Amino acid sequence: MPSMIPVKEFAERRGRLMERMAPESIAIIPAAPERVRNRDVLHPFRQDSDFQYLTGFGEPEAVLALIPGREHGESVLFCKERNPEKEMWDGFLAGPEGAIERFGLDDAFPISDIDDILPGMIEGRSRVYYPLGKDDSFDSKVMDWVKVIRSKVRTGAHPPGEFVALEYMLHDLRLYKSANEIKAMAKAGEISAAAHCRAMKRARKGGHEYNLEAELIHTFMDHGARSTAYPSIVGGGSNGCILHYIENSAPLKEGDLVLIDAGCEYECYASDITRTFPVSGKFNSEQRALYEVVLAAQYEAIDAVRPGNHWNHAHEAALKVLTQGLIDLGLLSGTVDDAIDNGAYKPFFMHRTGHWLGMDVHDVGDYKVGDAWRVLEPGMTLTVEPGLYIAPDNTSVDEKWRGIGIRIEDDVVVTKEGCRVLTDGVPKTITEIEALMAD
Ligand code: GLY
Ligand code: MN
Ligand code: MN
Repeated sequence: MPSMIPVKEFAERRGRLMERMAPESIAIIPAAPERVRNRDVLHPFRQDSDFQYLTGFGEPEAVLALIPGREHGESVLFCKERNPEKEMWDGFLAGPEGAIERFGLDDAFPISDIDDILPGMIEGRSRVYYPLGKDDSFDSKVMDWVKVIRSKVRTGAHPPGEFVALEYMLHDLRLYKSANEIKAMAKAGEISAAAHCRAMKRARKGGHEYNLEAELIHTFMDHGARSTAYPSIVGGGSNGCILHYIENSAPLKEGDLVLIDAGCEYECYASDITRTFPVSGKFNSEQRALYEVVLAAQYEAIDAVRPGNHWNHAHEAALKVLTQGLIDLGLLSGTVDDAIDNGAYKPFFMHRTGHWLGMDVHDVGDYKVGDAWRVLEPGMTLTVEPGLYIAPDNTSVDEKWRGIGIRIEDDVVVTKEGCRVLTDGVPKTITEIEALMAD
């Protein structure tokens, strides 16, 4: 059971969602399915983020129904029943009683009874909110429940007429992080920063990329973060130019940089940090020159994260600094405005400067409202991650630049005055990195 988010906060979230629901409606949200890794081995279970956000209930085979105005309780959970023999093999189950006592649900039933009970709860509600189109088998389950009601129309039953995707309302709530959520994310950021420091200190030629991945996992686990938020990227040399490189199997070479993009998940909250540092502990002059451009771009972008600025301001700020830097170093020619307008920078910087961060690493929430970029507000949490990548086969630039890939990524939360960096426990200036590695 999560300890950073109190039980009453989950109830408040359900309350806020129900306030936004149309009159005479019901919301139905399933837990994540268990997934087979191979034969009878399952992937470690990770709860669905929407379900987790509303319940804190970490078991599979469960369904939450939110039924505003229901006399016997508005928040109803269907979950597995307790079973001493099963629990001896597979671990503790809360059971419907535990769901009420420990998780604060209003009412709960065995999941094995859902087909008998839920249609009666849907009956008479005109609108059903659910994660429409996310999972084929759940879509057809909802339709099965509705068919039960339709089969009884001649006895006066009222089937619902509207089926609405739940995401829009729920994801807008998830975009604004509470003080407790920010604490959980700060904790995730702190652990990930410590992991990056450990990897920097232990980098050495003769090792492999996976040796550094092992150092990251060590720190995550050692601090109680039992999973990464996404597969760790550890790219030595030109592997740093492959944005989603997760092979992590190449030897680390003296003279190369290594790019690590890795973050732990703590109580279902993600962190996402990238640092780039020299295997030898010392940047050479080309690495240093490009690194200073990316770092300056990141500072400018972080400075643009404040209330009143819109989502794209940070990207625009980073792009200007990166493009100017490429021109100054002779990797691009012409003016900054032209290079941005005609996309000349794209072979060197082909991704966005960030994304929302939360329970999912690429978290939910709209980036635009209508045609306009979303204006930043306190509690929104995002990454700031400019980079420069000089492909090893880019013959348009002098050979000395080729194969250098650099990204610097931090997690920030918008505050009243500006923003707070949640991942500043790991150095990013050249002086600090070289000092840490020499230590
Ligand atoms: N690690 C994934 C990302 O930075 O977006
Ligand atoms: Mn990342
Ligand atoms: Mn990221």
